[in-house]
Amino acid sequence: MKTETYNKIVLEHFENPRNMGEIKNPDAEAIVGNPVCGDVMKIMLKIENDRIKDIKFQTMGCGAAIASSSMLTELAKGKTLEEAKKITNRDVAVALGELPPIKVHCSNLAADVLQKAIRGWESGRD
Ligand code: FES
Repeated sequence: MKTETYNKIVLEHFENPRNMGEIKNPDAEAIVGNPVCGDVMKIMLKIENDRIKDIKFQTMGCGAAIASSSMLTELAKGKTLEEAKKITNRDVAVALGELPPIKVHCSNLAADVLQKAIRGWESGRD
C-alpha cells in the first residue's frame, strides 16, 4: 500500500481500527458491497431505547474502507437512531480528513451500510 497518499487520521484508523469484530445476536445488521471493486462491509448493531448501544464492523476491503468503517462506528456509537440516520458518507470522509480522490468510493460504503441496518431494524418493528 502506498501510505504516503493517506493522511494521519486515515492511517491511524487503519492501523488501530475501532469497533472491529462481531456482535453476537445483533439487533440489526447489514452488508453492502462496493460495485467499483467488489469489497464488502458488514455492520452489526445493538440498539437500546432507540439508541446505538454498541456497533461493530467487519470489512473485506482496502485500508481506506477499513478506516472508513472504523470512523463510522465512532460517529454512530451512542447516538440515537434519529441522529445516526443523519450520518452521511460525506460526514465520514470529512471526519477522516478526506481521502485521496481515487479512494473516495471506498468511504462511500460506510454510511450506506449503517443506513441499511437502521432501515432494516425499523421495518422489522412495523
Ligand atoms: Fe474496495 Fe477501497 S478498493 S473499498
